[in-house]
Amino acid sequence: MCGIVGILGTKPVAIDIVDALRRLEYRGYDSAGIATVENGLLDRRRAEGKLRNLETRLMSEPLKGHVGIGHTRWATHGRPTEVNAHPHMTDKVSVVHNGIIENYRDLKEDLTAKGHIFQTETDTEVVVHLITDEMRQGRKPVEATQRALGMLRGAFALAIIFAGEDNLMIGARQGSPLAIGHGQGEMYLGSDAIALAPFTDTITYLEEGDWCVMTRTSVQIFDRDNRAVERPSIKSVASSLLVDKGNYRHFMLKEIHEQPEVISHTLGNYIDMAAGCVKFPSMGIDLAGVTRVTISACGTAYYAGVVAKYWIEKYARVPVEIDIASEFRYREVPLAPGGLSVFVSQSGETADTLEALRYCKRNGQIIAAVVNVRTSTIAREANAVLPTLAGPEIGVASTKAFTSQLSVLACLAIAIGRARGTIDAAKEQELVKALTELPRHVATMLHDESFYEGLAHEISKARDVLYLGRGVNYPIAMEGALKLKEISYIHAEGYAAGELKHGPIALIDENVPVIVVAPEDDLFDKTVSNMQEVAARGGQIVLISDAPKEKAGCRLLAHIKMPKAHPFTNPLLYAVPVQLLAYHTAVFMGTDVDQPRNLAKSVTVE
Ligand code: M6R
Repeated sequence: MCGIVGILGTKPVAIDIVDALRRLEYRGYDSAGIATVENGLLDRRRAEGKLRNLETRLMSEPLKGHVGIGHTRWATHGRPTEVNAHPHMTDKVSVVHNGIIENYRDLKEDLTAKGHIFQTETDTEVVVHLITDEMRQGRKPVEATQRALGMLRGAFALAIIFAGEDNLMIGARQGSPLAIGHGQGEMYLGSDAIALAPFTDTITYLEEGDWCVMTRTSVQIFDRDNRAVERPSIKSVASSLLVDKGNYRHFMLKEIHEQPEVISHTLGNYIDMAAGCVKFPSMGIDLAGVTRVTISACGTAYYAGVVAKYWIEKYARVPVEIDIASEFRYREVPLAPGGLSVFVSQSGETADTLEALRYCKRNGQIIAAVVNVRTSTIAREANAVLPTLAGPEIGVASTKAFTSQLSVLACLAIAIGRARGTIDAAKEQELVKALTELPRHVATMLHDESFYEGLAHEISKARDVLYLGRGVNYPIAMEGALKLKEISYIHAEGYAAGELKHGPIALIDENVPVIVVAPEDDLFDKTVSNMQEVAARGGQIVLISDAPKEKAGCRLLAHIKMPKAHPFTNPLLYAVPVQLLAYHTAVFMGTDVDQPRNLAKSVTVE
């Protein structure tokens, strides 16, 4: 979940490394650092907090080396201090690392017994000392590193440079992504192709267990058994994906506003608008023969999966097993061979989702991946990729990725239903029409946000906020609560409306806003009864509904009036007001909306 970069350049590389790190800050922003080799010696600059702190430091104390590595950190082992910031180094070697070295305690003990002195609380520092130890025994950098890599357990992407070596960098990948960029007389390493986009579009992705030895003009790649291997180079489209905030105050707001276009673009890939039917890629999957679906994901992507469970069970009449990936991967779920397993991930790199995928693959499942980053590990390991066409999502809080995941999953539900004959052509047409109308409805939600600014003022006073929803809109309540807590730091929980009386109702008093996601569908009256229970206890209700406010039958703190849409597409539509409410509350409270504390966009550790 950290971002790493390495450059073998022909001029001082520190500024370019900072530039690349800026595009990796979504992976973590607890600290940042750079090391270079200058006159044969390793030197580094590090700073706690965001990258701009490191930039300030470099202005007064520049680094001039032509070979260097950089890191932006999401802390796992050790507090986010300057001492724990990467790169870590000895007089011989410097390392940046993304991942977790699981056996670091044992290694540290052995190395300490040999006289190595550790200065940080990190797991990464053992890598530096292992290599140094090998070099002290007379081994050259490449052999020393190869031997050290053989001792590491866990997940890592590493970039390594050496004192006295102005034309050498070593990279290694196990469980965390790493890309090689091929330049003109220059060579690069990066956690992803977007980091390297300004320098080169020729990219080689290392595979699991690979490591590489690079100079400015050559790359040798070895597999986990140290056999020389060839890996293909591809032309990356990452440069066309570089984005800025435009006229928006935050990436999150821009991404919320992109949703009508992004949903439309994504749907265009899966439905034939003119014919009114889904045009699903064959995927090598016999959808008619699907009798059980397994879905797994994390965070917001998981909530998209929960919505899909409701859709697939209702329209395709297939039972769906769903669990968050960090639980699923260890549950030893029994799986009959030939089942369909669907993994949902914006980044395509989420460690738990990837491991859940591998579990299903080992157990004979056909793997479909709903991913936004098509070059990601999850996409590469899936049998079929169902891309979301959301474009890069920079805000840590997921918005447009969520609604584009829902768009794909809605089409998948229709496709399975049609293939199994549980919905007929007329029903398919009705559902497809509902989807095609959706971008227009979403756009109407974005015309005027002044209402949310006022409401945000009220919500910001709360210590706890509850979100309620029923049926297919229950996951939207959970997603609303996640959005609010992650960017405003207000405690929020999403509950199934019917579950309220089994415990959470004890929390209700006049200081607890209760956000009710309740389109006027066949469950609306049931949810109205739950609202009465809240109102009777003094709770402050915000009703998000297409129903007139009078139908609430109780006093409301606010009514977010929604356009009338088909019940099938309501989860997509109702995602928008919960995003806006969280966004404006966070802005009102003055938090760092795009990079909220303690979080990272891509979670590549378990
Ligand atoms: O990249 P992924 O979709 O696999 O990420 C999953 C979650 O980490 C992500 O959705 C997270 O919950 C977001 N911060 C939610 O806004």
